[in-house]
Amino acid sequence: MTGVRVAVAGSTGSVGTQTLEVLAAEPDRFELTALGASGSRPNLLVEQALAFRPKVVAVADPSVAADLAERLPACDVRAGPDALASLAGEADVIVNGVVGFAGLPVTLAALEAGRRLALANKESLIAAGPVVQQARRTPGAELVPVDSEHGAIHQCLRANDNVARVARLVLTASGGPFRGRRREELASVTVEDALAHPTWNMGPKITVDSSTLMNKGLEVIEAYELFGTPAGPLGARVSLEEIEVVVHPQSIVHSMVEFTDATTIAQLSSPDMRLPIGYALAYPDRIVTPFGRLDWRRVTRLEFEPPDLDAFPCLRLAYEAARAGGTAPAWLNAANEVAVEAFLDRRLRWIDIPGLLESTLDRHDGARAGSVDDVVEADRRARQVARNLIGRSLPGPASPRTSEPT
Ligand SMILES: NC(=O)c1ccc[n+]([C@@H]2O[C@H](COP(=O)([O-])OP(=O)(O)OC[C@H]3O[C@@H](n4cnc5c(N)ncnc54)[C@H](OP(=O)(O)O)[C@@H]3O)[C@@H](O)[C@H]2O)c1
Repeated sequence: MTGVRVAVAGSTGSVGTQTLEVLAAEPDRFELTALGASGSRPNLLVEQALAFRPKVVAVADPSVAADLAERLPACDVRAGPDALASLAGEADVIVNGVVGFAGLPVTLAALEAGRRLALANKESLIAAGPVVQQARRTPGAELVPVDSEHGAIHQCLRANDNVARVARLVLTASGGPFRGRRREELASVTVEDALAHPTWNMGPKITVDSSTLMNKGLEVIEAYELFGTPAGPLGARVSLEEIEVVVHPQSIVHSMVEFTDATTIAQLSSPDMRLPIGYALAYPDRIVTPFGRLDWRRVTRLEFEPPDLDAFPCLRLAYEAARAGGTAPAWLNAANEVAVEAFLDRRLRWIDIPGLLESTLDRHDGARAGSVDDVVEADRRARQVARNLIGRSLPGPASPRTSEPT
């Protein structure tokens, strides 16, 4: 029997390596036909290719191509800016586990090829929403989220046939390593502090985003793009105000949907990314997993509390960018990528991240997001603005406003 053909872009990252574990657990069901990454970890790529024997190995960085081709004579080694997007032609399901805006070509290529896109790379959907929605209308194209919260909502929505009866989407947030701290207690946060996530083990960019709650803000925009429009079969047409965030430190309830009869359906499982990855690969079937079972005797508490927008203003900024629409989410995403990189390089303090994002958004030029070129230009402009702001004396931290629907 030939399995579902899977391509993994970003195979060397946290999502990528966990995707390979899911594939390895069911070799009769899944066949890895292609993998790729930036090329910064060539030894790991070679190791993966020797273990799974894909037809194609792709790297964004052409300087490592010759070495890879020599070490993997049985593989078609592709390199350069279009190499990862070319993986879309090699599989039924393309997992996009690339980090950041760099994942946009993979997202678009998978959808435009009429394939299933298992999307971890939320940044491409957030920055290029209108363009991705267009690509999503390609016959055969299907977008299934990998993010655990959106995978949860996807599952909860399947509990109901009438999308008009969806009242609210409730995204859960772990709260990150600084949950419960007040803003004034966060002035001296270090890179090591921010990278110590209490429940999830992830790549550095999303871990920092979780510490600022920017990740949850990006996920609000992601949920709006995924479920707030009629584009997908499960499109629930919820408004931005009907997408809420609640902090749930145990990370067992991955998100919830409330229906018009005040019934809430939640999805629960252990905080193990292999589970939502497996869901996105196997949907509408389910994987048969040897990992991730919960021991209910140990789940003694499920707590919920409102997010603190004073200590974590990034969440408010995400709602504002989503409300502004057009290229504002692209600006927010680009400024955030610049901010996180600067923080990890110890050029920007953690406490100054929201201020940088707000100052960048204040300079948003209002350009529309009608084409890929528009979005790429918006990303370039916003990065330039954010970089110029770093190093100058930044304004104080973004001030709290209390009217947000969270
Ligand atoms: N980690 C999680 O648990 C998790 C959960 C939900 C959503 N996500 C989302 O999934 C995405 C990946 O996150 P991650 O934590 O897996 O990141 P990560 O561990 O940092 O891995 C990033 C991957 O992207 C590749 N990459 C980086 N820059 C690239 C470029 N310019 N062109 C092509 N490939 C590039 C890297 O390749 P090299 O290794 O060659 O540099 C690596 O394979 C992010 O959008 C994140 O928000 C992650």
